[in-house]
Amino acid sequence: MVDGGFARVAFVSEFEARNYKIIELARKEIVILHLDGQFYAVDNLCPHRQAPLSTGAIENDVIICPWHEARFDLKTGKGLEGPHRADIGCYRVKVVDGGVWIDTNSHEKS
Ligand code: FES
Repeated sequence: MVDGGFARVAFVSEFEARNYKIIELARKEIVILHLDGQFYAVDNLCPHRQAPLSTGAIENDVIICPWHEARFDLKTGKGLEGPHRADIGCYRVKVVDGGVWIDTNSHEKS
């Protein structure tokens, strides 16, 4: 379902069993994360060697690549440190009537 630039990609109830969901949108793999009541959506594949960021550790608002420990800000997608400092796509998220929506126009890398 699409509303303006937002697309419904999940339901809040899907995050009861685990705190993330991987989706594909416009041929990109995106991970939706539910952390401390907040939703985040970023590209799932690390720009260095394509490791799945969904399997990485999270410290505060930073996701850490499981392969070579590049760090990315979950709020902006900005590459903070690591072997490849490229940013990752970061998407605005809203919750409406139990649905999790991401702004498909907010994917620009910062
Ligand atoms: S694959 Fe992520 S830092 Fe190398």
